[in-house]
Amino acid sequence: LAMAARAIRGTVARFQGDPFGPAGREALVFEEDCLVLVEDGIIARVGPAETMLASLPPGTPVDHYPGAILSPGFIDAHVHYPQMQMIGAAGEELLAWLDAFTFPAEAGFSDPEHAEDVAGRFLRELLRAGTTTAAVYCTVHAHSVDAFFAESERFGTRMIAGKVLMDRNAPPDLTDTAASGTEESATLIARWHGKGRQLYAITPRFAPSCSEEQLEAAGRLWREHPGTYVQTHLCENVAETAWVAELFPERSSYLDVYDHAGLTGPRAIFGHAVHMTEADFACCHRTGSVLAHCPTSNLFLGSGLFRLFEAKRADRPVKVALGTDLGAGTSFSQLQTMNEAYKVAKLGGTTLSTAEALWLATTGAAEALHLSDRIGAIEPGREADIIVLDPAATPLLQFRTAYCRDLTETLSVLMTLGDDRAVRASYVAGVPVYDRDRAGDPFVY
Ligand code: GUN
Ligand code: ZN
Repeated sequence: LAMAARAIRGTVARFQGDPFGPAGREALVFEEDCLVLVEDGIIARVGPAETMLASLPPGTPVDHYPGAILSPGFIDAHVHYPQMQMIGAAGEELLAWLDAFTFPAEAGFSDPEHAEDVAGRFLRELLRAGTTTAAVYCTVHAHSVDAFFAESERFGTRMIAGKVLMDRNAPPDLTDTAASGTEESATLIARWHGKGRQLYAITPRFAPSCSEEQLEAAGRLWREHPGTYVQTHLCENVAETAWVAELFPERSSYLDVYDHAGLTGPRAIFGHAVHMTEADFACCHRTGSVLAHCPTSNLFLGSGLFRLFEAKRADRPVKVALGTDLGAGTSFSQLQTMNEAYKVAKLGGTTLSTAEALWLATTGAAEALHLSDRIGAIEPGREADIIVLDPAATPLLQFRTAYCRDLTETLSVLMTLGDDRAVRASYVAGVPVYDRDRAGDPFVY
């Protein structure tokens, strides 16, 4: 049954290439007053509103957003849904923070009803922030994955998620075994991977909480299920990195632990990567692995400053995408994450352009995750995950953006001052599932 067509009218942000490449900041272009025609959840046509309005199928609803910027939905490459209840748990660095706040919070997910409740709240916060795809850590409990994907299916979002694997150095009620973790993951892959828009990520938490046996089992499982993802943490913090060297004395680096277990390659996503050697970056380049840059988290936990332009070095570029890493991260908003990424780049003596920042959370992230045939751009053939950014969302934004000389500057100001308030609406596969200004419930489901 064909779904009704719908058109969205506004100024479209689009990339004509990779802004980290030769095109530079010219890669980002704005096409003013466009019409995006969506049919069956897919973008059918994009063009100037004036000409396209004349040829629209009669009765097609047009959602008009004058003055707004239409962007591909944001992609969050690294986030933990069970940590929503402990955002801003302050005082500790990574390892003590995990023990004091994270593990107790995740233990509560032994209750399936709690998992369903938090999954529902989490999805809504993502959509409110304009994030339509995310790579999500669940907990060690298999039903935490069912709860998350069930909620994602309700909205029709394209999500990547998986059951955390950890068989040591964690509380007993949060550990699995190499055998049980593999078996439960295999069941979840069969149940969810490729079901509608859902995608599975094999999720060994990080090397300190996974035995070598568990890491190797994860690598085998990944090889047996082409198209699935791997997600884990890498070189986040100095003490953690030193601990990995102690736990795996025979490996040449933290990343070598994963590489040795067969956990590097296309669709492997490594969160943080703050304390990397040149050999580590070269390994990521060679294997096509993705690094998730999580600036709000790295600043909150004092983990360090990710060297983005070192990762992106032109002679061996590494794929990078932006992650919130909530609940160590401090915001659901990729606008706020871009804001912090800008400052982290500055502290490293470099400048993150507006084009580069947007790329890392949209088109570039889709490319890094091998999803660019489906999401990440407002182009015919892609799934219609589109967000409406409002340059006049707050009195301050309205005042400030009136002084912008061009739309790149407007977007830059949105990255500096904006957050979920700047997201006027979020479309998932062409459906306006979130509308900030709708009376009553702003969510469709
Ligand atoms: N390393 C292992 N687990 C975690 C986690 O939940 N959050 C962060 N930031 N780092 C981790
Ligand atoms: Zn994380």
